[in-house]
Amino acid sequence: MELIIKNGTVVTATGKFKADVGISDGKITAIASSLSDSNAKVCDAEGMMVLPGAIDAHTHLAMPFGGTISSDDYFAGTRAAACGGTTTVFDFALQDFNEPMPDTFKRRDALCAPNAAVDYSFHIGVKDIHGDLLNSIKDACDLGITSYKVFMVYDFGVKDGVFFELLRKSREFGALIAVHAENNELVNTLTEKYISEGKTSAWYHYMSRPEFVEGEADVRAINLAKAAGAALYIVHLANKQGVDAVTAAKDEGYEIYAETCPQYLHFTSDVYKRDDGRNFVCSPPMKGKESQDALWDAIKRGDIDTIATDHCPFMQSEKDWGLDDFRKIPNGCAGIENMYPYMLGKANDGVITFEKAVELCATNPARIFGCTEKGEIAVGKDADIVVYDPDKKFTVHQSNMHSDCDHTIWENVEMHGYPIKTFSRGKLVFDNGEFVGERGWGKFVKCEKRPIK
Ligand code: URP
Ligand code: ZN
Ligand code: ZN
Repeated sequence: MELIIKNGTVVTATGKFKADVGISDGKITAIASSLSDSNAKVCDAEGMMVLPGAIDAHTHLAMPFGGTISSDDYFAGTRAAACGGTTTVFDFALQDFNEPMPDTFKRRDALCAPNAAVDYSFHIGVKDIHGDLLNSIKDACDLGITSYKVFMVYDFGVKDGVFFELLRKSREFGALIAVHAENNELVNTLTEKYISEGKTSAWYHYMSRPEFVEGEADVRAINLAKAAGAALYIVHLANKQGVDAVTAAKDEGYEIYAETCPQYLHFTSDVYKRDDGRNFVCSPPMKGKESQDALWDAIKRGDIDTIATDHCPFMQSEKDWGLDDFRKIPNGCAGIENMYPYMLGKANDGVITFEKAVELCATNPARIFGCTEKGEIAVGKDADIVVYDPDKKFTVHQSNMHSDCDHTIWENVEMHGYPIKTFSRGKLVFDNGEFVGERGWGKFVKCEKRPIK
């Protein structure tokens, strides 16, 4: 063995136990009550928790969006991920019009591969399926890109017919369709209304995309998936009506997955009344307390499957474009370094169990997206491991984050417990507040196809 993590409490999605974890060639090779090997380095984890690295299934690194490019490139974003205990990221590769899906993957992989500090994969953001483009999904699936997101909003969003066609075909390709659900027509109508009334502050970003705008689209998306007989993954779910629709569909036996993000669990729409409200502008926006409570309840009863960040940071100067007009604020916030500490902190506070935090942030995303080597502390899995100190107090400041972004919506938020070490395939990449990894270390994770129907 090359490395033994000794004396820690191993946490899986189903239990906790004291054990040593042995690592060789980037893999977990042994888990036992006591391991020894005079050739192995030892990491003493007495009093610590030993967890699988998190999988952030929703990031936008170096993404052209909102008139600019999101401010974390593949190195900065994955460096920040490592420092928050995240060892795999799924980034969104946005298809160009007329571009076959394998080309989208290769175009973004060429940027990511030399720079990623942790392992990565992609979802493709689909814009165009005319001609042979739809069938090009099959070729991209063969390359290990098995998830495709449609946007029901934005100028590149797709119409319901395209969404339905994708759902229908996903079954024969072994792909999973994901959706950003908001009603575009309603967003446009409400935006025009508030602008014409001179209501231009960040609060009106929320008012033009309130609860029902997202809820209606969630219900419609689920109905389309049911009609197509396809599975569906709803990204960044943030409203109660949508939560209720997910619960009902799951209860009826449909394969509907829901992801939410820490920002929806921690902040409410009140943030848009703050002087720095523009910094919190993302879509869908933070919602009211009733929706937040519904998200937590759904987590506890198992109706939210994953937590991801939707990390899409923009510099302060870019957020400031919308000081007098919310339409000009690039949509998105930083969060890649905060997800695991936040959810584990909630476990530390007794809001959820540590097992639940591991299930939501690691085990479920690995299972849903077909990352067979990831997401668990188990023999044979990649040694993506976080050593977590449940007693460490940590307050988030922009200055102790590892993103290139110059502000964070998590400023001054206290985390109860914090990761002290992150290993990526057995290599130490984060150590007591410091990034110690390497640009280009991260490898592409080829995802398994879903069963073909
Ligand atoms: O505001 C957000 N969420 N920006 C990133 C793009 C998206 O919708 O996921
Ligand atoms: Zn989205
Ligand atoms: Zn997103």
